Amino acid sequence: MNSRTTIAFAAIVGVLAAAGCGKSSERGKAGEAAKAGETAKPGETAKAGETAKPAPTGVDLEVTHWWTSGGEAAAVAELAKAFNATGNRWVDGAIAGSGDTARPVMISRITGGDPMGATQFNHGRQAEELVKAGVLRDLTDLATREHWKEIIRPASLLDTCTLDGKIYCVPVNIHSQQWLWLSNKAFKDAGVPVPTNWDEFVAAAPALEKAGKIPLAQGRQSWQTTLTFSVLVVAIAGPDAYNKVFGSKDKAFAAGPEITKVFNAADQARKLSAKSTVQDWNQATAMVIKGDAGGQIMGDWAQGEFQVAGQKAGTDYTCLPGLGVHEVMQTAGDAFYFPKLKDEAKSRAQETLASVMLSKETQVAFNLKKGSVPVRGDVDVNTANDCMKKGLAILAKGPGAIIQATDQLMTPDSATQVNDLFAEFFAKPEMTVKAAQKRFADLIAAAK
Ligand code: GAL
Repeated sequence: MNSRTTIAFAAIVGVLAAAGCGKSSERGKAGEAAKAGETAKPGETAKAGETAKPAPTGVDLEVTHWWTSGGEAAAVAELAKAFNATGNRWVDGAIAGSGDTARPVMISRITGGDPMGATQFNHGRQAEELVKAGVLRDLTDLATREHWKEIIRPASLLDTCTLDGKIYCVPVNIHSQQWLWLSNKAFKDAGVPVPTNWDEFVAAAPALEKAGKIPLAQGRQSWQTTLTFSVLVVAIAGPDAYNKVFGSKDKAFAAGPEITKVFNAADQARKLSAKSTVQDWNQATAMVIKGDAGGQIMGDWAQGEFQVAGQKAGTDYTCLPGLGVHEVMQTAGDAFYFPKLKDEAKSRAQETLASVMLSKETQVAFNLKKGSVPVRGDVDVNTANDCMKKGLAILAKGPGAIIQATDQLMTPDSATQVNDLFAEFFAKPEMTVKAAQKRFADLIAAAK
């Protein structure tokens, strides 16, 4: 293992623990099946004194998710490979069209009596209603046997899986949305240097346009226009402002001059992306990969696309965390939930899948392809690319550099209303900054 990466990662674990994100004092008691830091092998999860049942094999388990881009498909194939290696079969239930399209399908299948074996949701509050309705499995016993509280970092990820003290999901990654991805070719073609921050990017836009490029690639789905705005909140106004708006839901602040500056930047982003009419985020990333667009504001899952296209960070593309202004990372990402099933073998195979998702090997293989950071602090990320290393270095700076995702801070209902506003703002150039900010402040005041 590369010692610098090991040290950096150890430092992050230390920082997250110091931030109250981990309890290193908790240790597995003698006689418990799995040692701390190890994931028990399927079938070896019985408590001391009990006879372990053999692990189920030959079971088909349908897993739903919205990972359909090239990079996402490569990453999810690692989860399938690991589960299939247990002698069971991953039945892929990919739903195209983004999380906003997939989640209602997943929810209606679970509530309508046609549950899948496991399903993806984002870290946060998207499955809260399902948990309250009693249709998702309580994984607390498995989590206790396998010491999830000790191995998952930061602890806030497991907290978002927890309701009334019980654990309902397996976090599989840490994703941050706070990035600008730049095409080195586009800037070379335009004869200007690759920008190092948002202001330089805006200043370079006329040269890009002159060279026939679209300055900013922007997918039109509403979650993506909102992502651009929320990333601009941190870049222009800073992480404290972000927390005041989305965390404390401070209406006066959301209506004030700091956020007006953010809306002015969003207005620039709207103009720079006016000719970008694609819907899906990976279509926008493809424009950057080809050099047809200068850059894209997008989460670090974009790295998967650059990797699949054979591009190299630093040479072919450049990544600017926090848009090169306020470098922060977010604890966004994905978790798997397991609906209650009547079939006993499938129910036991669900536990096998949950275990496998958290194994060291799967965590590394999956996250390197996904562009995300593993949820375990005890794995080797030596082969991380330059952008992921930048992300790890920011995490190591400590709590001041780590923010929560809007999905963790708002209910799905409030998030949908904010999404609607930004879809409209980006689609309608006639909507003024003043009108948009007023509506935004009202939504924030009413948000839960
Ligand atoms: C997010 C998810 C990521 C990424 C992205 C685009 O909700 O957390 O894993 O895949 O959607 O599909």
